Amino acid sequence: MKEITRIITHGRGEDYGIVNPPVYRASTVLFPTVADLEKASLPGHDRRFTYGRNGTPTIWALEDAIIDLEDGYACTLLSSGLAAITTALFSFLKSGDHLLMVDSTYGPTRRFCDETLADLGVETTYYDPLIGTKISSLMQSNTRVVFLESPGSQTFEVQDIPAITSVVKESDAITIMDNTWATPYYFKPLANGVDVSVLSATKYIVGHADAMLGSITTTRNVWDMVHRSFRNLGGYANPDDCYLALRGLRTLSVRLAKHHESGLEIARWLTNRPEVSRVLYPPLEDDPGHTIWRRDFKGASSLFGVVLEPCSKKSLHLFLNSLKIFGMGYSWGGYESLIVPTNPSKGRTATTWDDTKPSLRFHIGLEDPSDLINDLENCFSLMAKSKG
Ligand SMILES: Cc1ncc(COP(=O)(O)O)c(C=O)c1O
Repeated sequence: MKEITRIITHGRGEDYGIVNPPVYRASTVLFPTVADLEKASLPGHDRRFTYGRNGTPTIWALEDAIIDLEDGYACTLLSSGLAAITTALFSFLKSGDHLLMVDSTYGPTRRFCDETLADLGVETTYYDPLIGTKISSLMQSNTRVVFLESPGSQTFEVQDIPAITSVVKESDAITIMDNTWATPYYFKPLANGVDVSVLSATKYIVGHADAMLGSITTTRNVWDMVHRSFRNLGGYANPDDCYLALRGLRTLSVRLAKHHESGLEIARWLTNRPEVSRVLYPPLEDDPGHTIWRRDFKGASSLFGVVLEPCSKKSLHLFLNSLKIFGMGYSWGGYESLIVPTNPSKGRTATTWDDTKPSLRFHIGLEDPSDLINDLENCFSLMAKSKG
């Protein structure tokens, strides 16, 4: 079966003939006999319907669908993308270990390293997202994890994932990748040598801005470590949110195709605007990451950065406050268009972001692109008028 078909058919749960698996909410699960209770609690299998935290059929249906999309061995779901990232990191790191973290990582991932992991005696070294095979020069005898995120948060650098994973495979370390931007529909981390793929399913998997979830999917050789830390840390995913994610996932292929098409149209339009200095979006032919993106990714989502020409704070606020269709708010990956101001220079340590011009992050939704262009055009004209 082709992948688009599998996205529709996999993870339907138990075969009651219902297209969408129902929501099983549970804490207590009752057993008719002591023998049943003892049998269900035997160690050795991951899916025990013994207690809500150990999973319910709704959760497993979504896990099955994600395992298929990721070409993975097993998957576990968490209450948020950040919980998936921290659980994945906790699976492999202990006091005295060393972590290599990409410098363009999502801010709260960096905060977890600098605060929680540092408190526990795990040392983090940040590395240039464009390091490629030179990652070898940063590997130490105690390096246990190399963390990747591509394209980078806010700045959208594309990492050479196959080059990095081929180097890490020569060591005792493992790789974890935050693949939220592309989703496994457009980039498959595990097929590119990554051991652990992490997603904020809150974004494109849920796709409708109404639920929060994270997933960790792994190859066979590291699954036990992830499953152990998931269980010990008390991770859980709400079955109602899993139901919404499963429903969202069914339309992932068509939504992403439209996000890609509209994202590119708006990004191209923005590159020609006098108010815009540059657009940070790997699908654009002159983007520095375009060649690697083209080589490794099957498509693009519609999240990108825009650096404006210098303008006053007042003018920038007038632009943002006057938008009618674009909303202003955090997160992305839903069907709606969003803009937020960004500050890429904040928090970098291995690299610098010297551009002091104002920058924004765009998420292009599923609206008609001509309406989005009109919205932006109107607000750019208001900015020009306000300058006199
Ligand atoms: C790249 C990336 N990874 C992870 C997360 C965290 O996901 P969540 O908000 O589901 O915790 C986000 C959230 O914005 C993100 O942008």
